[in-house]
Amino acid sequence: MLDEKILNVLRHNKDSYVSGEELCKLAGVSRAAIWKHMEKLREEGYDIEALPHLGYKLVAIPDSLIPSEIKWKLKTKVFGKSVISYRKVDSTNIIAYELAEKGMKEGTVILADEQVKGKGRHGRCWSSPSKGGIYMSCILRPSIAPNEISRITLLAAVAVAQAIRDLSSLEVTIKWPNDIMMGPRKLCGILTQMKAEQDSVDFVVLGIGINVDLPVKQLPKGATSMREELRRRGEKVTLSRVELTKRVLEKLEEYYNLMKTEGFEPIIDIWKDLSVMIGSRVKVTLAGKTFEALAHDINPDGALVVRTESGLLEKISSGDVIMVR
Ligand code: BTN
Repeated sequence: MLDEKILNVLRHNKDSYVSGEELCKLAGVSRAAIWKHMEKLREEGYDIEALPHLGYKLVAIPDSLIPSEIKWKLKTKVFGKSVISYRKVDSTNIIAYELAEKGMKEGTVILADEQVKGKGRHGRCWSSPSKGGIYMSCILRPSIAPNEISRITLLAAVAVAQAIRDLSSLEVTIKWPNDIMMGPRKLCGILTQMKAEQDSVDFVVLGIGINVDLPVKQLPKGATSMREELRRRGEKVTLSRVELTKRVLEKLEEYYNLMKTEGFEPIIDIWKDLSVMIGSRVKVTLAGKTFEALAHDINPDGALVVRTESGLLEKISSGDVIMVR
């Protein structure tokens, strides 16, 4: 808390020095305490200059997914108001699930720089090397029935896709239900887990993994990163994980509120605009069975409706779906 207070004073006085005395007065602590906190901030990656007689100046801020950076000028009321960051974890989804069980409030965000047991869909692993990715899990407590959970997954896909489009030139698309793609390569994955009673959802853990600043050699087959895609286009852009995380949280809150006030229909409409799947031939793998079909529509619950070879419409709520050429 004190770190954030000191940091905010320095941010408001960027390009000038703030004297130790002034900081002591504003924070209500001793000079020794200020010095200790400056050291801690430096360890977190802040470049703080200290000059005798002049005081302290903030020279550079780190692109680290730490609470003080995420919360700074974050335009949300709920999402990201409480942020917990780790350097290395097994999986942010595991931590978020445990915290949600203990009653942690809606909008709490767990972030990590690296995951050693990152979880993907269908029991797969999510490769989560340090520094270049965003690995985050949000706790939600939506008033929906358990069978409407895919609404949250689709909503999250729309939010992430929009955030990436807002902050880069990458025209990402969505592959049902929640893969964010750049052409045939996957840039981001979303894993939704929930705890529910028979007809009500207790909580949802929304896990989002985005490959931001990762080189090709650190990516699994079929995956890509924002850095790689921009390099392919010959664009030299500095990527900020902090800015992207904030934009994702703002978009999540915007669409979550839209769903609460106007229902799920407007979200489906945006999802369809961003999707490349509707109207394409797809291969569906469901309970060990694989068949080809035509992706026909998304139903009001977020399930994919496909037209099978025999002309019947079939609803796919889970399972693996890939586009075929
Ligand atoms: C997928 O298979 O497409 C889903 C991948 C989800 C990865 C994210 S990274 C943050 C969160 N923590 C996890 O262990 N998984 C999700």
